[in-house]
Amino acid sequence: MAHHPTVAVAPGALPGLGHLARFVRAPLAFVRTLPAHGELVEIRLGSTRLVVVCDPELTRTLLLHDRVFDKGGPLYRRLREVGGTGLATCPAAEHRQRRRLVQPAFHQRHFPGYARIMADRTDAMISSWPEGRTVDLTRETRRITADALVATVFGADLDPAVHSSLAADLHELMAGVFRRSLLPEPLCRLPTLGNRRHARAASHARRTMGELIAGYRARKSCSDASDASDNPDASGGYGDGLLSLLLSARTPDGSGAFSDEELIDHAVTFYVAGTETTAGAVCWAVRFSTLHPHVHRRLTEEIATVLGGRTATWDDLPRLEYTRRTLTETLRLCPPGWFLTRQAEEDTRLGGYFLPRGTTLAYSPYLLHHLPGEHADPDTFDPDRWRPGPGDSAPSPLFLAFGAGARRCIGDEFALLQGTLLLASILSHGDLRLRPGGRPLPRLPQLTLNPGPLPARLVRATP
Ligand code: HEM
Repeated sequence: MAHHPTVAVAPGALPGLGHLARFVRAPLAFVRTLPAHGELVEIRLGSTRLVVVCDPELTRTLLLHDRVFDKGGPLYRRLREVGGTGLATCPAAEHRQRRRLVQPAFHQRHFPGYARIMADRTDAMISSWPEGRTVDLTRETRRITADALVATVFGADLDPAVHSSLAADLHELMAGVFRRSLLPEPLCRLPTLGNRRHARAASHARRTMGELIAGYRARKSCSDASDASDNPDASGGYGDGLLSLLLSARTPDGSGAFSDEELIDHAVTFYVAGTETTAGAVCWAVRFSTLHPHVHRRLTEEIATVLGGRTATWDDLPRLEYTRRTLTETLRLCPPGWFLTRQAEEDTRLGGYFLPRGTTLAYSPYLLHHLPGEHADPDTFDPDRWRPGPGDSAPSPLFLAFGAGARRCIGDEFALLQGTLLLASILSHGDLRLRPGGRPLPRLPQLTLNPGPLPARLVRATP
């Protein structure tokens, strides 16, 4: 009989609870202890057993074999309650066709147009900040990423009242999905206050998305009805945006490829995946740079030279090189999607370890980005580690903030575009002062490593 090594169990599991208390109390610190125990390490969160992949090569194998290691496990089970079978949560069997369908919305040719919308929205946001008054940078950046996402990807405008209600829903959903992923199944179904609040937020967000889609449909059919030669872009000025692509997709018999519920799944998925992530990265970049004066000096010098006090646009991007590197380094140190789960769909092996069908696995970009063998001084914030080397024949350093393989983030370039424009613009208009204190890392991460409230005051440059 073949001999397989056994997956080590992380030490310190308590009867019944396993490692749950440690994971809940300080999850980032806890996951960083795991590589000391092996390439694959089992953790027990209550009755749930999770095999955490602690080795970069095995993580690549995990991510490249997405039909064997499909989306599943506690996180994706709970995410499906919110996003149904949208692109991020659908099983591998449905994924290729869905991804092909929405991919054109993320084609490079749209990016100059997307950048224009992002820059307009950013300009309006920064102008609205009252002189000398404190704003919450977290809330403001989420407002802008939501606004720009809905405008660019959905082809709709987000009414401020709708935005506020969606932002409140999103806040609850991000916390709730993570909290519920740690609960045993029966507890998720009890009508507790927390579960009811979560269900309300999910159904409210879905209803709001349904209304946005209905509004979009109505506008589209109006513009279709008007003279097409006067209005060649029948999608309301947004070309083949996501909704336009989804609405025009047809089955072989000519009917719409997606039901209303599936359209809502997609819309909720993009909203959840594409707002707090980018906003969080920008906030952490501001925070890290203020904690590292030499980075801050170089960043603000580059921004002042390139922008001279104005908002960043598409044409500025090639010269905002250090800004982009700062964002990349932020995503290394603090990847918003920090802990993600999978499920083995068949009996399989990973690195010689036997994993029976149904095994739940997890990978953590946060853990992997901090491995000493992968990055020199992994705890040091150093944007220059991303400076292109001469000839560039060296293998690229490990970077999994956007995942890898077929399920890699579809919005990666979109996020880097928006993040770079936003970071440069926020630091361009004056001296941004963060309230002293605050944490260098979130103590209790949720679905994303979000920074929590970040009070900041912009002292505008005098002309
Ligand atoms: C800094 C910002 C972002 C980060 C760090 C990020 C991270 C990720 C990661 C790690 C995954 C893979 C999850 C897994 O392996 O389980 C993912 C998937 C995804 N992301 Fe992003 N994301 C960001 C921004 C965005 C934006 C702006 C959008 C939309 C415009 C977006 C839409 C998606 C979608 C739809 C998926 C699922 C892709 C698929 O399964 O085909 N993300 N993202």
